[in-house]
Amino acid sequence: MSKITAAITAVGAYLPDYKLTNKELEGLVDTNDEWITSRTGIKERRILKDASKGTSYMAIKAAEQIIAKRQLDPKEIDMIIVATATPDMSVAATAAYVASEIGATNAFGYDLAAACSSFLYGMSTAASYIQSGRYKKVIVIGADKMSSIVDYTDRTTCIIFGDGAAGALFEPNEEGLGLHDEYLRSDGVGRNFLRIEAGGSLNPATHETVDNKQHFIKQDGKTVFKYAVSSMADACENIMERNNLSHNDVDWLVAHQANKRIIDATAKRMGLKEESKVLINIEKYGNTTSATIPLVLFDFEKKFKKGDTLVFASFGGGFTWGSIYLKWAYNTPDN
Ligand code: UT7
Repeated sequence: MSKITAAITAVGAYLPDYKLTNKELEGLVDTNDEWITSRTGIKERRILKDASKGTSYMAIKAAEQIIAKRQLDPKEIDMIIVATATPDMSVAATAAYVASEIGATNAFGYDLAAACSSFLYGMSTAASYIQSGRYKKVIVIGADKMSSIVDYTDRTTCIIFGDGAAGALFEPNEEGLGLHDEYLRSDGVGRNFLRIEAGGSLNPATHETVDNKQHFIKQDGKTVFKYAVSSMADACENIMERNNLSHNDVDWLVAHQANKRIIDATAKRMGLKEESKVLINIEKYGNTTSATIPLVLFDFEKKFKKGDTLVFASFGGGFTWGSIYLKWAYNTPDN
C-alpha cells in the first residue's frame, strides 16, 4: 500500500466588507500613507464592524465555503481546528461552536493558539491526524478579529492588523501530493516583545489593567522584525536543503503576511529570482494573524497546478515560526 499523505483539497475564505484605508488611519494617529506603504506594503485592511460578531462569525463563513466547494456533507467532517489569537471566548473553544453551526455533528474541534504561526502549526496537526489513518476530513480555519485587540491610538500596531478568516480541507492522498516536510520551532524569549499583557492567568483582568490599556496587543516592532527575517529565512533554507529543493524547484512561496520587507528578505535567501513566485496580498488585508497564509492560498488558488511545489513560511508571537513543504493536489476548473 502506498504511503498516505495529507493533501489540501479545497480552500475557502471570508473577509468583512469594511475597508480601513491608510487615508482613514491618517485621521486616527500620526501616520501617513507613504510611511505605511513603504515600511509594510499595506494599503488597506478589512474590519468586522459589527460589535456583536466575533471570530467565529468569519470562521463559519469560511468553513461553509469549503463545504460548498467540495460538495461535502458536513457530517463527513472528522475534525475542525480554529487557529486563532482572538477566540470568541477564552474557555469555550471557538472550533466547537463553528463545528456545531456548520452541522459537523460527527466532528470534534479545538482552538490552536500560536499567534501568527497558528495556521502553519494547524497544518502540521491536521496532516498528522490524516497520516495516522484515523481521520479522513480535517478542516483548519485561520481566523482573527484583530480589531478586537488593537488600540487605535497606537500607531505602531493599528496600521498593521486587519480582520479575516480562511481555511483549508485536508484529506488523504496516495499520489504523493500534500504535506511532505515541516520545520517548526518556538522560543519563549519572544513573549517580551509581542504580547497582550493582561487577561490571562498571570495578570488577570482588573479595572487597572483596563485603564492601563493592557488588553491591547503591543510589540517591539524593530526586534520582532529582526527575529522574523532571520527565523523565517533560516526555516525555509533548512526545508529546501533537506529536501534537495533548489530555487528552480519551488513554484510558490506562501508566507505569513506581516510585512512585505520580511517576505522579500525570505525570498531573497531562498534564491527566488522570479517575483511572480512570491505571493503577496498584504496590500489588501494587512496582517490578519492566523488568516494570512490561508488567505494567500484562497487568493492565488487559480494559479496553482496539481503537483506544484509550495513552500510555506511563518513567524509570530511566542516566538513561533517554521516552514512547510507541500505538493499542491488539484487544478481549479478555470486555470
Ligand atoms: O505578525 C507577527 C509578527 N510581527 C511582525 O512581523 C512585525 C515586525 N515589525 C515590523 O513590521 C516593523 O518593525 C514595523 C512596521 C512595525 C515598524 O517599521 P520599522 O521600519 O521597524 O519602524 P521603526 O519602529 O524603526 O520606526 C521608525 C520611525 C520611528 O521614528 P524615529 O524614531 O525614527 O523618529 C517611529 O517613531 O518611524 C516612526 N513610526 C511611524 N511613523 C509614521 C512608527 N510607526 C509609525 C507610523 N507612522 N505608523
